[in-house]
Amino acid sequence: MAVLEILVYPDPRLKQISEPVETVDQALLDFIADLEETMRAGPGGVGIAAPQVGCFKRIVIVDVSCKPKIPHHGRLVLINPVIATSNGSVVGREGCLSVPDYTGNVARAERITLNAWDETGAERVYSMEGFEARAVQHEMDHLEGLLFLDRLVSRRDIFRRKVYQKPRASVSKPS
Ligand code: NI
Repeated sequence: MAVLEILVYPDPRLKQISEPVETVDQALLDFIADLEETMRAGPGGVGIAAPQVGCFKRIVIVDVSCKPKIPHHGRLVLINPVIATSNGSVVGREGCLSVPDYTGNVARAERITLNAWDETGAERVYSMEGFEARAVQHEMDHLEGLLFLDRLVSRRDIFRRKVYQKPRASVSKPS
């Protein structure tokens, strides 16, 4: 497995539309393992989409199980995901591995139902709400070449991160 390089805004490749996956084979599963490792290595690390690492296939991974007290499905690998129904609208703060220095307020559907293949190529249906539904909608936007920056509630709804998620330089202690 490997941590892959993440494309960072304003890399023009982030605007590319991804292609459907035709078959699930071992090469694809190996890539999904690398994609997941890349997600978990990043700050936040609750979701990632294949185009963020320069692979323009319709694959996203979401795992919001680290957030306390919210409904979720655990680790989700979604291949060729399609939102079948969506209801409600709620504004919430989003970040993105491809936009490391900013967060922004974005309106998303509150509840969605979703069709997608799992890692065996089987069709699955999911109903989800709240933060998990937001994370899936955010990651699916990447498949269309969209970032949260394209969906800000207003031009004032972007915020520079106060804490940089970079390793601290080690300070040498006086001996
Ligand atoms: Ni993102």
